[in-house]
Amino acid sequence: MIDIHSHILPGIDDGALDFDSSIEMLRVAEKSGVSDIILTPHYIRGSIYNADNAKKWKLLSELRERAASEGISVNLYLGNEVYIDTELPKMVAAYENEKSELMYEIATLNSTKYILVEFPVQVEDKTARETLFSLVQHGFVPVIAHPERYVYIQNNLTAVDELIGMGCVLQGDYLAVLGRYGRRAEKTLRELLIHDKIFCLASDIHKATDEYKFNETKAKMYKILKASDGVKAGMTPGAKLKELFEDNPKKILLGE
Ligand SMILES: [Fe+2]
Repeated sequence: MIDIHSHILPGIDDGALDFDSSIEMLRVAEKSGVSDIILTPHYIRGSIYNADNAKKWKLLSELRERAASEGISVNLYLGNEVYIDTELPKMVAAYENEKSELMYEIATLNSTKYILVEFPVQVEDKTARETLFSLVQHGFVPVIAHPERYVYIQNNLTAVDELIGMGCVLQGDYLAVLGRYGRRAEKTLRELLIHDKIFCLASDIHKATDEYKFNETKAKMYKILKASDGVKAGMTPGAKLKELFEDNPKKILLGE
């Protein structure tokens, strides 16, 4: 599996507290069969989650060294989970013009055109539409983190059609199908999968005690996907699972 959403980079958000926790999380990931992980700490402008890219690259480089010395062979890449912000198009436009990943604060997913974006959970951000559209116009592909957890989407599933229509892709937190985020998120992710709205799945792992739980998750998803539009279009549930956990995350990793 390729995991495009994780909070393993130490000491800059509510994920891993220190390098020891990061290493423990990487061990759990490797044991579960994860080959590649994009480290996506929260970025919220004006909050304490605002580490600049120079700091993040330095931490990544140290974590790579420590992981290698511990015999861990998972490939690590940098990204951010960026909180929706009206300044976002300006910030990434500057990034695009300068082509220097060290100069700006937001890391796109493995320095590709894909940018992981999150919204407020309880209330719909009415400015999001314009911000996302502007990102698309700049050539970026917004990857919407965990759509199943936003109340406005739980209340109205067709809200995702506008996001997809403008050029965003949806990333589900797969542990939602096991009830990790409550019954409404569970039901919402199930519906989004059945209607083939989800582009890829990721762990959103925050601590070493989190588990990847692939076997349990895949067994449940297999049942869900048997009834999905994607599978009706000629795919087996197994092939669809591979697309969600491996093929589409790989497209993001490679910037395809
Ligand atoms: Fe996250």
